[in-house]
Amino acid sequence: MGIDAKTRLFGVFGNPVTHSLGPAMHNAAFNALGLNAVYLAFGLDEAKGAAEAMRHLNMGGASVTIPHKTDIMAHLDEVDDTARTIGAVNTIVNRDGRLLGSNTDAEGAMRALETQGTIAGKKVTLIGAGGAARAIGYGILQRGGALVIANRSEEKGRALARDLGAGFSPLASLDLDGVDILINATSVGMVPRIEAMPVSVEGLTPRTLVMDIVYNPLETALLAAARAKGCPTVDGTAMFVFQAVAQFELWTGRTAPVDLMRRTVLEALN
Ligand code: ATR
Repeated sequence: MGIDAKTRLFGVFGNPVTHSLGPAMHNAAFNALGLNAVYLAFGLDEAKGAAEAMRHLNMGGASVTIPHKTDIMAHLDEVDDTARTIGAVNTIVNRDGRLLGSNTDAEGAMRALETQGTIAGKKVTLIGAGGAARAIGYGILQRGGALVIANRSEEKGRALARDLGAGFSPLASLDLDGVDILINATSVGMVPRIEAMPVSVEGLTPRTLVMDIVYNPLETALLAAARAKGCPTVDGTAMFVFQAVAQFELWTGRTAPVDLMRRTVLEALN
């Protein structure tokens, strides 16, 4: 669909955003569904400017990324319980002039895992205690998984576990025996240190589903080792694609073209 006087504006606010895959993914989805909308990347120093721009330009919605995901909250009309618990907003919806903050990172991670089966009742070990781990841990507990958090810094890991109501295990003494789902929510394994692994996979058996949030490289050392052991895996693009899928659905009320969005991301990364 061509851009005209009725085109609705969407976008991502962050800094830096020049490498964002959001524009490619969301514009492909808008086009596929014949929606008169466009999604652009806006690099911004202050979160406040994002909310002001959305109001002035009557934008339909936006993604929010680093470093504004927490600061943006103070400038919105409403922040939902999910975003409040996660402590970050990654999605803004303009509902009749009111800016509503939400967070689709947890939902995105859960939909990524659910491509391989259900989460309820599963024993889940989550490595990490940063923002990504918080969102994923929240999602696991919401879905009824039994969650144990492991982290390099014990203090940070215990604090997150206490906050969410999960168990904690020191990373050094992590026992993977009987774990149904293992998730890396740290940056370990990302370029340039691609040989690094957050935990030894020696004890892994093929029953464990292994997910990594790192998507550069697509096949991390952890995922490669897990696959070699016969474990099913979910790569770092899955959470990224599904958090965008959930955003798209909040903005448009339509079912997102998941396969197209995933293909768009894979093409951009290759
Ligand atoms: P994000 O918000 O993107 O999740 P973050 O808040 O910087 O990022 O958190 C990074 C996570 O990766 C933390 O859990 C961190 O562990 P610490 O709390 O011990 O710092 C983890 N991490 C980063 N580099 C690591 C490394 N080399 N080994 C183990 N864990 C690492």
